[in-house]
Amino acid sequence: MSGERSTKPGKTVSYAYPDTTSRSSQLYKRARRSIPDGASRTLALIRPHPIYVASGEGAWVTDVDGHRYLDANNNFTSIILGHADPVVNEAVMQRLSNGTAFAMGTEAEIELAELLVERVPSIERIRFCNSGTEAVMGAIKAARAFTGRPMIAKVEGAYHGTYDHAETSLGAGPDNWGRNDAPASVTYAAGTPNSVAEEVAILPFNDTDASRSILARCGEQLAAVLIDTLPSRAGLPSVDLEFLETVFTTARAQGALVIMDEVISLRLGLGGNQGRLGLEPDLTSLGKIIGGGFPVGATGGRADIMDVFAQVDGQRAAVPTAGTFSANPVTMVAGYACINQLDEASFTRLEAIGNAIRQGCREVFADRGLDWQVTGEGSLFRVHPHGRPIRSYREARLDDAETRIMDELQKRLLEREVYFPGYGLGCMNLATSDGDIAHFIEAMADALPTVKENY
Ligand SMILES: Cc1ncc(COP(=O)(O)O)c(C=O)c1O
Repeated sequence: MSGERSTKPGKTVSYAYPDTTSRSSQLYKRARRSIPDGASRTLALIRPHPIYVASGEGAWVTDVDGHRYLDANNNFTSIILGHADPVVNEAVMQRLSNGTAFAMGTEAEIELAELLVERVPSIERIRFCNSGTEAVMGAIKAARAFTGRPMIAKVEGAYHGTYDHAETSLGAGPDNWGRNDAPASVTYAAGTPNSVAEEVAILPFNDTDASRSILARCGEQLAAVLIDTLPSRAGLPSVDLEFLETVFTTARAQGALVIMDEVISLRLGLGGNQGRLGLEPDLTSLGKIIGGGFPVGATGGRADIMDVFAQVDGQRAAVPTAGTFSANPVTMVAGYACINQLDEASFTRLEAIGNAIRQGCREVFADRGLDWQVTGEGSLFRVHPHGRPIRSYREARLDDAETRIMDELQKRLLEREVYFPGYGLGCMNLATSDGDIAHFIEAMADALPTVKENY
């Protein structure tokens, strides 16, 4: 596959965005009549009109107007093999013709559970749900039930879905974020009770001393630390290993658990980022790629902790869970068909794709005389339109002008046949060829002068 574009012959500027005559624009007008802001996922919006997709194949997607884009988003990092993977499709087709939703269990649930338990050594038991948000919520509830303690600690600016406690200090800014070494705990969605903020301690990513003190101050109130070792919204900075070790040991010294959020970072290795870094968290939240392109989440971990989800002698479980569609057989067979195709070579290739994109971007930024940066690991990368060294959320957080630059970049890349999200997190799938990588870099090189002109 290398050298050639996987499914798309190249050309430079294919159309001008926005296009108010396009079918995407018309659909958005229609959507706003029945859906607040016209979309169920805020991040899928591009203003003045989002792009509506018709199909995807391999590394490319085609919109309802017939424009094609190299996909540098992959449904917010949930597609790893490529769109419309034939093996996943075959498994799903077979499942569809045998029915899609039952009150009874299916063998498919056990097969995916066994595969994930085999791949991720810290996961001895696992339960499925429908989203990463639920997976994180389940892990937090399990930690509270197991320890009998109320508090969690999490990293400032880190995204873990939309459960109240998990989204604390997601949107903190200079007016409310407090000291660098003692970040304030700030609720996110309007109307969230202040008591939620009081139950969450906020850690500055990669600040070892400050995090040690903050965790120590939580004392016996702390149930768990929730940590994503490559936090996307905090800038996708690589984690400092001393910081990580301190977080693990300080939490455990107080009798608290460590929850690793691998909803995104499972795509970094066969055993996730915990496998790469040699970590053994007590609980792990999963999502995205384990559904093979279908809605999914899972909470896994040590067998004795996971027992909080089990009924004993017919009594209610310590943490009751349900979910009409949890472990839905369509998701389970798709997830199995996806994860089962991944081997060490897949992750080596994904790393090579990511390295080539990161290196290419750096060269393009230098060529264009910009101090822009790109962070990331594996198939994940994040573009930063500034030169502040990025170790945590505070340096990565974009001001209004920088946010506008990234919005502009997204639009100019659309015109050059690349779908790259305006919030700057890029993600490539395994179907990406060397020709596709070259297409991305050329598009970036070509788009930057027009972005610069505007700001
Ligand atoms: C690290 C992390 N945790 C949890 C979630 C929530 O997952 P979902 O969108 O499936 O609810 C996300 C979503 O992007 C995430 O990036």
